[in-house]
Amino acid sequence: MLQFEQTFRNFLLRHQEKHNRTYHFLILMDAIVTAAKRIELYYRTGALKGHLGVAGSINVHGENVMQMDEFAHQIVLHYLTQTERVIQVVSEESEDIIDLNKNGGRYFVYFDPLDGSSNVAHGLPVGFMFGISKRNLDGNIQGPEDFHLRAGREYIAAGMFVIPTGMFTMALRDAGCWRFHSDETATYVKPVRMVLPESTKKWELSFNAGNINTFSEKIQTWIKEKIPQYNFRYIGALAGDFHRLLANGGIFMYPAIVNHPNPKENRPQGKLRLLYEANVVAFMCKEAGGDAIDETGTRILDIQPQKHHQRTTLYVGSKPLIEDLAKFLKS
Ligand code: AHG
Ligand code: MN
Ligand code: MN
Repeated sequence: MLQFEQTFRNFLLRHQEKHNRTYHFLILMDAIVTAAKRIELYYRTGALKGHLGVAGSINVHGENVMQMDEFAHQIVLHYLTQTERVIQVVSEESEDIIDLNKNGGRYFVYFDPLDGSSNVAHGLPVGFMFGISKRNLDGNIQGPEDFHLRAGREYIAAGMFVIPTGMFTMALRDAGCWRFHSDETATYVKPVRMVLPESTKKWELSFNAGNINTFSEKIQTWIKEKIPQYNFRYIGALAGDFHRLLANGGIFMYPAIVNHPNPKENRPQGKLRLLYEANVVAFMCKEAGGDAIDETGTRILDIQPQKHHQRTTLYVGSKPLIEDLAKFLKS
């Protein structure tokens, strides 16, 4: 008897049907999946075709733009435009918010088209990360609530493709966090519910260890206490590091840099971007039974963004570890 796995498309159709939802979200997700496949295609052949170099420009965050960053941004924008369902997008690779369908659209999409630029030159794992929120459709009011600057708790979905592994993880609000695998026909199949382990022999600790002396004394103390008991893992792409953490349990962190020998290099707000990096993993983590806070102990999903490229410190992972850290931060 031949056996085949359930497809992502079927999974989503059934989900929408079960919750009495519209087909608009299906159109949006179809575009996101198509974009991801195309990014993956460029990435897989990138070394051969010479696409893995720098583009020669500097982005809004002062970082070197890679050719792949630009390709990925254009690809995502193209497919999102085609849906006619997206009001505005915030992309890491565009200084400005981009209007797609201001009057007729339904969703706001926040994305990092290519996460983990330092891996690009080597063809190592990168991510395409996205978060989605929805226009307030009740009573057609266009008030401040009907705006793209949403806290993560208002997202309706968030997810990430880890490229070129062929794996895709996404969370739907109040409906869990799910992982899919690309099959021989490049179809995402086999929904597997991701639930963070509640305990493990050894938690995983994931951060840029080269930065340790630049963290606040308090954070350094907490980390140094944990190091001997934990495994240490770092890919250098949030999407990749979080992907592993979701299965193994542990904590990923990008603390504030406050003690850099060159004060100009300090980053008191952290490095990662709230709308399309921190919120995306925090949302998935919550749906997988975990949690995420910033360095003041505030829940990432509760931060009310003031700017679309706002940065935040990030501590995301298994609940017992986040609780332990939150208690320590308060003490
Ligand atoms: P991006 O490539 O989209 O700018 O993001 C890179 C981010 C994140 O993915 C990763 O966890 C972090 O930067 C790595 O930073 P360090 O090189 O400072 O460790
Ligand atoms: Mn990124
Ligand atoms: Mn990026």
